[in-house]
Amino acid sequence: MMYLEKIDSLNIAETKYKCSLCKDIGYILQNGNATECYCRLKLYQKALPERHRKATFDSLDYSNLDKVLGLKEAINYFKKTPLSKLQKGVYLQGEVGRGKTLIACAIFNNYLGQGTLKFVVVDDLIRKIKEAFNKDTEFNIEIYMKADLLILDDLGAERTTEFVEGEIYNIINYRYNNKLPTIITSNINWNDLESNYPMNGKRISSRISEMAGSFNLNGIDYRRKK
Ligand SMILES: Nc1ncnc2c1ncn2[C@@H]1O[C@H](COP(=O)(O)OP(=O)(O)OP(=O)(O)O)[C@@H](O)[C@H]1O
Ligand SMILES: [Mg+2]
Ligand SMILES: [Zn+2]
Repeated sequence: MMYLEKIDSLNIAETKYKCSLCKDIGYILQNGNATECYCRLKLYQKALPERHRKATFDSLDYSNLDKVLGLKEAINYFKKTPLSKLQKGVYLQGEVGRGKTLIACAIFNNYLGQGTLKFVVVDDLIRKIKEAFNKDTEFNIEIYMKADLLILDDLGAERTTEFVEGEIYNIINYRYNNKLPTIITSNINWNDLESNYPMNGKRISSRISEMAGSFNLNGIDYRRKK
């Protein structure tokens, strides 16, 4: 009996595959349609900062956000627009601790299950690109360029060089040309974005202004309030 119970508790299928639900294919059939399996969604979500991983629109404190011109409308727009129809993103600007990354993560989670979602801190992305360049290792920038939704966290916090500007321009330009929604957070004020990138500033900021609505998150530093 003991043995039988043990065998029962050992799910062979589960030991064979990392995900017993999709058998590591990444897709499952739901009502006749192939949809992304939960294991894949979990993998997308792993890119979010752990602190903000569970962020949703409902979990936000709106006492300050309600004062941000147009932000509520933008959030409602995300709530009712499926990712396949979403063409416009947002540029969330403001001082530290205003909730920019938190909101970006809530937008991300709102679209979980609707396509390829990528969240990346711009400085990390640049580091990955440089590493791949120097060591000739494989890094597929196209995964970020072509994602159905891309979140670029902390744009402008990276040290700008000609190379960095070129890479940022390429990503933004690709997404602009292909009408792919991009969410950007930055400490840099809308007007200063241009001068932050001495080479491609005009080209970068002009594209962003058409592909994303800009929101100014002022108010309190939530980190200090805690
Ligand atoms: N509207 C909000 N509701 C609840 N918590 C919030 C809100 N805004 C910010 N916070 C909390 O404040 C802290 C800072 O938020 P967040 O990391 O999003 O700031 P940020 O604007 O991205 O700052 P930085 O520019 O330094 O990256 C987090 O712990 C976050 O959960
Ligand atoms: Mg942030
Ligand atoms: Zn799976």
